[in-house]
Amino acid sequence: MGKAIYEKNDIKLDNYNLLVDEALFHNANGYIGVRSAFEEGYPENFKTIRGEYINGFYDFTQTEQAENIYGLVHEKQTMLNVADTQSIDIYFDDEKFSIFEGTVLKSKRWVDMDKGITGRFVSWRSPKGKEVEIKVIRMASFYQLSLFTIEYQIKPINFSGDVMIESNHNGNVKNFFDPHDPRNADESFQYLTPESCYIQYGASYINSHTSKSGLEVCSCVKNFLSGESERQFIINESNAQCQMSTIAQPGKKIKLIKYAVFADSLRVENCKVTAASEMKKALSVSLQELYKHQEDYLAEYWENSYVEIQGDNELDMALKYNLFQLIQSVSKDEYGNIAPKGLSGEGYEGQYFWDSEMYIQPFFTITNPEITKSLIAYRYEILDKAKENAKLLGHKKGALYPWRTIMGKECSGYFPAGSAQYHINGDIAYSIIAYYLATKDLDFIQEKGAEIIFETARLWMDVGNFYNGQFHINDVTGPDEYTCIVNNNYYTNALAQYNLQWAVKLYFQMRKLPEFRKMQKRIKLSYEEITEFKKAAEQMYLPYDEKLKINPQDDSFLQKKHWDIDTIPKKNFPLLLHYHPLHLYRYQVCKQPDTILAHFILEDSQPQEVIRNSFAYYEKITTHDSSLSRCIFSISASRLGLEDKAFKYFGDSTKLDLMDLHKNTKDGIHTANIGGNYMAIIYGFGGLRIKESGIYFAPILPKKWTGYRFRICFENRRIIVGITKDHCTFFIESGEPIAINVYKKEYLLDGKLTIHRKKTLRRED
Ligand code: BGC
Repeated sequence: MGKAIYEKNDIKLDNYNLLVDEALFHNANGYIGVRSAFEEGYPENFKTIRGEYINGFYDFTQTEQAENIYGLVHEKQTMLNVADTQSIDIYFDDEKFSIFEGTVLKSKRWVDMDKGITGRFVSWRSPKGKEVEIKVIRMASFYQLSLFTIEYQIKPINFSGDVMIESNHNGNVKNFFDPHDPRNADESFQYLTPESCYIQYGASYINSHTSKSGLEVCSCVKNFLSGESERQFIINESNAQCQMSTIAQPGKKIKLIKYAVFADSLRVENCKVTAASEMKKALSVSLQELYKHQEDYLAEYWENSYVEIQGDNELDMALKYNLFQLIQSVSKDEYGNIAPKGLSGEGYEGQYFWDSEMYIQPFFTITNPEITKSLIAYRYEILDKAKENAKLLGHKKGALYPWRTIMGKECSGYFPAGSAQYHINGDIAYSIIAYYLATKDLDFIQEKGAEIIFETARLWMDVGNFYNGQFHINDVTGPDEYTCIVNNNYYTNALAQYNLQWAVKLYFQMRKLPEFRKMQKRIKLSYEEITEFKKAAEQMYLPYDEKLKINPQDDSFLQKKHWDIDTIPKKNFPLLLHYHPLHLYRYQVCKQPDTILAHFILEDSQPQEVIRNSFAYYEKITTHDSSLSRCIFSISASRLGLEDKAFKYFGDSTKLDLMDLHKNTKDGIHTANIGGNYMAIIYGFGGLRIKESGIYFAPILPKKWTGYRFRICFENRRIIVGITKDHCTFFIESGEPIAINVYKKEYLLDGKLTIHRKKTLRRED
């Protein structure tokens, strides 16, 4: 794979860019995430989102509803900013190091995706003329998930004298808020109260509890300074400052290593004891060994998720940067999942959405299926809460997953574009089936997946009804958030149908297995219900317009007014920030793919002509105001042989964070977009589909590239796919031979297979 370092020279010191860099250079490992604020801070008038987060660690917070309508959400969950362990202040005699004063001679920031570290280098001249080089390396360890380290090197160039270091461990923290952006929390509150702050064996501990969720977190920090001459701790109830002194000599490096570990009560019994043992574990090996473990972990990750673009180095690097963010963001246990911003910021308050199943899980399913298992296990953990949610919304049976959540309860305050998105049930079911099709891991389906598929299927039976011989699902919202509360949303109905069909299939496939029978008994699943599932699936109503030969997004979509989006002033995008929702709902205008997404994931449910016409229709009216949009259009364009378009959508989308294209990367990176871009290569250009009938490829090659290669994992086999101008090669690295389908023709893959590449491709050809 390509270049492993993303770097920025000459750090821009304006506030906006610093906020974006806090997200772009953050460190995370799926458990903890630390935004990349300067250790020494910014000037007082600067804004910072100086966050450290734990995946899935939350508090409850009130959410105002103007009217007390039954069932609306009054309390949501928010991911908490936990103790700040990144502060380090350096004093050279009486001068404090700050790159906002004096002169910056050289500066740079980088993230090394092979080593799993970020770095900052500054060559600085103080106002009084002291020259010094500072290099800071930070790591959130994949080897030990509780651990975050800072290696801080100081090289005095032209002076000697006293150096004083203040290393802070601060439990007095708040979350970020922005009352002007609905994608952020709207008020600030002190969620965490430190209840003890103490020093033990040279380490500081802060133990805090949440205001309402009854959770606890303990952080422990220990500093090691080379050539240390003196040390003292200054502590109060919420802050522990370790003051250390040493001597500067020209050319002689001073090194501070700061270890921070976290333990939270979601995962462990006794946070203080665990924090102490985690610190002991971290210190039992050298920092160099920890770096080595980090590199080893990533070497395996890159091998499994290998993808390389040949002939466009910049894009290849952006891709690698993006995929690094996915492994940084995804939880490695069932207590967490993956949030739209990962652990890089507070946008969407760290809650989990359908983004996980439909945009990110596909990547893990074909590269690291163990991670998909853990994401599904999270959904299994909150299944009971989803059943409670279904009850709250008036359903007599089944489970309804909340649209956005951390611990399983609904968090969306605005239900038309939130709780009404029932398709999340179908998304979760779809992703479990996708896992099954790619792995054939029936044991796991039996253990966790099937129950979710039955409970979500049950819900469709309760929300929908038979009318005139067809099954209808009314008053729901599809993925497009500019069209809300509609009847028969095509995407929702198509997925519900798939969900029901698979509930029936799994039932017949597993009904004789003892474990399955136990579960069936426990959830009281009857044969009559299965018969009803079958009937509803067969009679599912899928909107179709005879005249346009497209699938309308829902029953009323085509009746609505047209709005030529080219006439809307650029400054009014995203429309959600400039128009009342009702205004948007009355137009044929889409925030993101809805029917187009259904056509991608369930491509056999419509004839090619309908898919082609629908693409042309929705393309004109989609604003791509969501970062989840362009990647899907790219995949669909690839499928339709619209190669230039496919490439254009892909290119615009891949650098979304690195170029801050949506102007909100400061709130965090966009993980669904990243997963979607990966899909745009593998499913889009590569044409991969994994179906019940087997594995399919139909590769195209973007004109600008000389080739691309990727590795996927399919039913315990590792397959490398390589595309060049003239050929497609498939190589089975491990596992049994298998039949694969390329450009609609079947081949036996037993070793290496080379096929001439089709130069132009209309998929119906
Ligand atoms: C999109 C949703 C998405 C959410 C979180 C919204 O802008 O419309 O589809 O789930 O962002 O990424």
